[in-house]
Amino acid sequence: MKKIVFATNNLHKLEELRKLTEGKIEILSLKDINCNDDIPETADTLEGNALIKARWVKERYGYDCFADDTGLEVDALDGAPGVYSARYAGDNHDSEANMRLLLANLEGKSDRRARFRTVIALIEGCEEHIMDGVVEGEITLAPSGENGFGYDPVFRPEGFEETFAEMGADQKNKISHRGRAVAKLTDYFSL
Ligand code: IMP
Repeated sequence: MKKIVFATNNLHKLEELRKLTEGKIEILSLKDINCNDDIPETADTLEGNALIKARWVKERYGYDCFADDTGLEVDALDGAPGVYSARYAGDNHDSEANMRLLLANLEGKSDRRARFRTVIALIEGCEEHIMDGVVEGEITLAPSGENGFGYDPVFRPEGFEETFAEMGADQKNKISHRGRAVAKLTDYFSL
């Protein structure tokens, strides 16, 4: 069976991908290849960061590999927080603080359009491929809902009355940025 490394330490993402590719591709984690490196995410685009991570593994460990990076792009903030979504309010990756800052920065603005974008960089042999998944929506006036993570309580996808945090995981995965990017990846492998 084809083996490919998913350059992440996020066990939740890893399990999700393993379920989707079960019996077709063997997905290895960074731990599986004894990679404990703190891979730098120093690019200023999602594509750049995904490529840094995938190339790191390919160049140092020799495995075909894919990596992802996600950001929330808000129109009225010129695309911020974007690639800095995880650390918008500071380096300690605090979702509550990130959401508070986002709502404060949007105060008084009528344009609340935003989108989540996931980029996957795949390196197979000497070929590099970039795939993305996007979900359009808007930032609500206040957080609502308990499910999910990150900015889910303040993001309402287009065509829905609920925020991501008010949806079940299955419904979110069907329409989400990550769900759409992963569908392109599994299509690529004809799964
Ligand atoms: P990552 O690249 O998947 O680690 O995502 C970077 C940051 O974007 C996360 O730390 C979250 O703040 C935010 N984010 C990514 N995906 C989601 C999502 O599905 N819902 C809410 N926030 C998300």
